[in-house]
Amino acid sequence: MRSDMMLKQVSAGRMAVTKSVHVASYTSRRLSTKVASSSSSSMGCSGSHLRSPQTQSGRSLQQKFYENRILDRYTSQEPKKVTLRQLVLFGRQLTEDKLIASANYVRSELPVRLAHRISDFQYLPYIAGTNPHLKMVYDLYWRAFDEFRKFPPVKTLDDNRRFCDNVKKNLLEHSQVIPQLGMGVSECADLVSPDEIDRFMNQMLISRISRRTLGEQHLVLSEQFDDDLRAHLGLRPSESFAQLGAAPRGFATQRIGIVRADCSVAQIVHECAHRAAGVYEDAYHLPPGSAPQVLVEGHTDATFMCIPAHFSYIVHELLRNSMSHVISRFAGRLEDAGPDGAPAFPPIRVTICSSHNDIVVRVSDESGGISADVLPYIWSFTHPLKAKRLHNFHAIHRMEARIDEVDSVSPLVSFGFGLPMSRVYAKYWGGDVTVHSLPGYGVDAYVQLPRLGNVVENISARRPPQQTVV
Ligand SMILES: Nc1ncnc2c1ncn2[C@@H]1O[C@H](COP(=O)(O)OP(=O)(O)OP(=O)(O)O)[C@@H](O)[C@H]1O
Ligand SMILES: [Mg+2]
Repeated sequence: MRSDMMLKQVSAGRMAVTKSVHVASYTSRRLSTKVASSSSSSMGCSGSHLRSPQTQSGRSLQQKFYENRILDRYTSQEPKKVTLRQLVLFGRQLTEDKLIASANYVRSELPVRLAHRISDFQYLPYIAGTNPHLKMVYDLYWRAFDEFRKFPPVKTLDDNRRFCDNVKKNLLEHSQVIPQLGMGVSECADLVSPDEIDRFMNQMLISRISRRTLGEQHLVLSEQFDDDLRAHLGLRPSESFAQLGAAPRGFATQRIGIVRADCSVAQIVHECAHRAAGVYEDAYHLPPGSAPQVLVEGHTDATFMCIPAHFSYIVHELLRNSMSHVISRFAGRLEDAGPDGAPAFPPIRVTICSSHNDIVVRVSDESGGISADVLPYIWSFTHPLKAKRLHNFHAIHRMEARIDEVDSVSPLVSFGFGLPMSRVYAKYWGGDVTVHSLPGYGVDAYVQLPRLGNVVENISARRPPQQTVV
């Protein structure tokens, strides 16, 4: 009886939750020109593209011309890209001068990266630009662009603390961006060609990761520097050193922020497996320890240079997919598994391979494979099958695409977002995620990432040349 209930829950879970999420009417939201015309940084325009000036926003052409002149100054600059190795080397032997140089790099780099994405919004077809969700992100980006470009040069540790407060505030505000973009593109799915909107999403998300990486790296370096300085001065945690003008001469720390030079692949896989198993056991009310086992094989002592938060996100998403589909497929076996009986589910095998240049991780399951009608669109944000699920973003306000969000986002709500977002993370660092479906048997998913941290961030500043309206 109990397992019968479980079986029903398991197979109905994702569907049921998906259906219960409020799906906003596309037409009622799309033409919200009131929103589009009220802001000081309206995307609205009269031509087929948003860049052309217009009067409906109530702002003078002169003002728009002035704003776009400023934007052009920034979009004419290429981002100064970094490698993981540079981040690591920079943090070692971190002095006050270097910390301040780091702050000024982030201060001048963020507006350049934001300007390129603001420009992407302006070149979206007009009708997409009136979407209130996309408009909201556009406004957030303009505000952040203005704040960072106007922030005075950082000269002292105290200036840096103020700058860090600004970065933190910005990161928090922008945690709404993914849900807003998701809702925006889902509502524009039949207005803009799928290739164009996928390109737009990929650019937005990869650039977002790049800005967060720079911001978070600087924040963590600053915190680590302050902690070490406090310890060096013998101050208790409650004692402030806000008045301290500068660090003592010769003071340096050996910290590398959010990067790890020798991250253990197997350890991350084990952590993600543990987390994913717990999530699905809770969600489906399975007995503790009954989720599919994750067997880790191959080069289990491999290490590499990475940002663990990024690598964990990818591994966790792949394991989540495997677990949920293996559980759904074999839920009927729960009935037969006694307390000492064989595990109900076939295991998920994770094979680690470490070569000189790359780390490759294969996640193999017996989920039955990806159905033929879904398979061609697994990387798309906008195919109707996917776009419909992006409506689920109406149910949440914030998403940072981090593994520690599992507590705030139900595993039963599917956004169709895990695979494309994982690939965005991998591509950002010059890697990739690929998926092979073995019909009727299972799925093999591969993550490949450069091992040595010497690949420059894969962000493109330029817009793709072609724009089409469907
Ligand atoms: N291991 C797998 N076995 C069977 N089907 C899979 C597997 N991995 C992915 N799929 C299929 O590919 C689709 C897309 O996967 P993706 O991770 O992008 O989105 P999702 O899992 O549906 O939602 P989200 O990841 O946002 O929770 C899934 O809905 C599922 O149909
Ligand atoms: Mg998924």
